[in-house]
Amino acid sequence: MANSPSGDSVTDRLVRVLETFTPTRTVQTAAEIGRRAGLPGSSAHRIVGELVDAGLLERDDDRRIRIGVRLWELATRSSQALRLRQVAMPAMERVQARVREHTQLAILEQDEALFLERLSAPDSGANITRIAGRLPLHASSSGLVLLAFGERELQERVLAEPLIALTRETITDPAVLRRKLAEVRTLGHAVARGFIETVSTGVAVPVRDEAGRVTAALSVVLPRDAPTEPALRDLHAGKRDIEQALGFRG
Ligand code: PHB
Repeated sequence: MANSPSGDSVTDRLVRVLETFTPTRTVQTAAEIGRRAGLPGSSAHRIVGELVDAGLLERDDDRRIRIGVRLWELATRSSQALRLRQVAMPAMERVQARVREHTQLAILEQDEALFLERLSAPDSGANITRIAGRLPLHASSSGLVLLAFGERELQERVLAEPLIALTRETITDPAVLRRKLAEVRTLGHAVARGFIETVSTGVAVPVRDEAGRVTAALSVVLPRDAPTEPALRDLHAGKRDIEQALGFRG
């Protein structure tokens, strides 16, 4: 790809533009995008204009920009992650109908837990997870499952980084996290009480693919002091359904 005078490639700049959109920042002006992507105003306007023409971004009547439905269409068409979501959906609906609390599916993405789906009843409690949003591995039940059953290098990388506290109960000591990961492997599930917000408890189980690799975490978010045993029974049943649909014969 051709490089700009500053040395970054066209692809670098496109990625920086697209990455200015986050789960909480979904609408921006072209000038804001340029500033956040570190691009001169003229380049930002040109790149945004080209992406709008291609349908990857959309411009509303106020000339504000959002991600275009064409980008969603292309991503959804061939993504492994979305195939997994589709396969998991019936089991997630069954878990949600029984537990009647937020039910979520997450995968590992760039050392974070990325949420592919979240089902919530109108009366479900607090939950900071968003579809297509991310949570830190050490601070969420899904993340702990993905980390505990992940590769050794991943664990060492995460343990070597500062473990940011989101509440007073988040594990921030690497030695404690190491023990927690061993416990998750032994028990086959993770309970994160108050790790990410004090009012909630996350409970997650691993989901294995055809080859027996942990490919996702299935979780529920309960009010902090709710019993975890009934939810765990439903999560284990849901996980088995998804694994069967994925072809895992464990
Ligand atoms: C968790 O998975 O541990 C979790 C996720 C979202 C919350 C609370 C807990 O809001």
